Amino acid sequence: MSNIGIDSIAFSTSKYFFALENLAVHRGVEFGKYSNGIGQLKMSVFPSNEDIVTIAIDAAQKAVSKIEDTSSIDLLIFATESSFDLSKAAGIYVHHFLNLREDCRVMEIKQACYSATAALQLAKSFVLQNSASKVLVVGSDIVKYSPGSSGEPTQGGAAVAFIISADPRVLIIEDGSGVHTNDIMDFWRPISESEAIFDGKLSAYNYLKSLEISFARYLKKTDRTISDIDHVCFHAPFGKMARKGARQIRWQKSIDNTLIYNSVIGNSCSASLYICLLSLLDNSPDLANSRIGLYSYGSGSVAEYFSGIICEKYKSCITPEKNRRFLESRHKISFEEYELFCRNQFPLESETYENAGAFQLKAIENKRRIYTCKGSIHVRRNMSPIG
Ligand code: CAA
Repeated sequence: MSNIGIDSIAFSTSKYFFALENLAVHRGVEFGKYSNGIGQLKMSVFPSNEDIVTIAIDAAQKAVSKIEDTSSIDLLIFATESSFDLSKAAGIYVHHFLNLREDCRVMEIKQACYSATAALQLAKSFVLQNSASKVLVVGSDIVKYSPGSSGEPTQGGAAVAFIISADPRVLIIEDGSGVHTNDIMDFWRPISESEAIFDGKLSAYNYLKSLEISFARYLKKTDRTISDIDHVCFHAPFGKMARKGARQIRWQKSIDNTLIYNSVIGNSCSASLYICLLSLLDNSPDLANSRIGLYSYGSGSVAEYFSGIICEKYKSCITPEKNRRFLESRHKISFEEYELFCRNQFPLESETYENAGAFQLKAIENKRRIYTCKGSIHVRRNMSPIG
């Protein structure tokens, strides 16, 4: 088995949330439908000076602060389905604000919520060929559905950033995975649209069917049985979907710890599976040497079931208290503010909303996005060239 995997991992989301209890009142729905039927309590909502780039920089800054220096990062992959530019990769902004080396490659990839897993597997192959290299993967998405639609309570958004390297400290990614791709119109966002179009029931059906197929392929390829797996994280567009996934593969153990963060952030698409992994890491007593199954699903669709082994000293690389404090420090907004957040597309001069990190989208001038950093960034960089 190659000894490559996640060396450090962190997340970010908006400093604002909207309580689904409040949404239920305004939509004339019983809160039980959202809390029990869908499995969600709050959703992150974003002021117009926060976007997929600003939260991505915040998450990436936290992830790189846990490594010695950034000089060995020579590939940055930005995974998203909320892209605002069909040409320039959003990762270029991350590269700039993190002061990464000029000869670090940057690219953006897309396949709905699956994209960060595609990035993870590409990164693993890259490190296999370049053992001294580190790859920074960022998955960042803001999920918006039409107000009043059935998808509305499953909105949310977050960014996750992780470093893939040899001799990782958090999770060794095992060889062998089960993949399933099929052409289906369950969820998509044409270029002209700012909100996704979806067939909720079809998407849920295909999520489960793809899980069944990819999990069977994983077991066959790795010659394992379900009892060889200690915990499972599922892509979680909403908590209940993950629970249905567990039922589909006859998974008996609790997945509660994987869903704690998701239940108050909402769907974060490409970041979602890894937010579930972080939630499990932060909220479980001791996972060292456990095998974690991971199910990634991106509508359209591509699904992959793979696994990893938690490293012996992973606890020294996670920050559960900090993560909890970050989520608890978010501000609850009213229904009127929620409607304002839904309408606002561009930063307004008068806005003074707090950002998750030190970065904000200040303006859009001549169709150019202008980002600023409020404080200084503390990223250590060794300027010596790599061999
Ligand atoms: N108390 C408790 N439970 C209640 C209730 C109440 N008062 N009222 C209803 N419920 C239950 C229902 O019985 C139902 O439970 P089951 O699913 O176990 O049958 C559940 O609440 C949801 O009710 P509905 O099916 O009536 O809900 P809906 O039609 O309004 O929509 C949804 C639900 C389809 C998930 C919708 O939110 C949606 O389309 N979301 C967006 C698409 C999505 O997230 N798809 C997931 C798979 S695709 C994917 O994973 C990619 C991605 O990230 C988008």
